[in-house]
Amino acid sequence: MTKILMVCLGNICRSPLAEGILKSKLSNEFVVDSAGTASYHIGSPPDIRSVAVAKKYGLDISHLKGRQFEVSDFDTFDLIYVMNESNFQNVVKLARNPEDIGKVKMILNEVHPNKNYEVPDPYYGGDNGFENVYQMLDEACNNIAEQLQ
Ligand code: 4NP
Repeated sequence: MTKILMVCLGNICRSPLAEGILKSKLSNEFVVDSAGTASYHIGSPPDIRSVAVAKKYGLDISHLKGRQFEVSDFDTFDLIYVMNESNFQNVVKLARNPEDIGKVKMILNEVHPNKNYEVPDPYYGGDNGFENVYQMLDEACNNIAEQLQ
């Protein structure tokens, strides 16, 4: 069973959306979860703007709860997708060996290989930021799902 973890900073805007989108494209043989590198939003539901854009496309992510990335996630998950360079550094800092580091990937490299493009943090912007993030993640998740299935 392949297990995939989506990681952002707060685990309330980008990664819960990525979790919901990828889950909707995969069968139940896959486990998809999300986490944040920061502890600010542990136990919180996703941002209402992420819940709204997910709902617009037929996905319900309202039940998700924020949690912080932990070292044991390297053992649990096969693939760890991060949204930006800062998430990448924060996760890799916790890696214990090259195998851990090898699991960590910039999610938009699934669309634009090796470019290290970032999914922008929509937290302080308007609703259009969430639509933009949704479209980026949807495209990346299409490619991820195609490779995995
Ligand atoms: P996320 O967005 O990393 O996509 O969940 C953020 C959410 C909260 C904060 C920053 C980014 N914050 O600073 O509280």
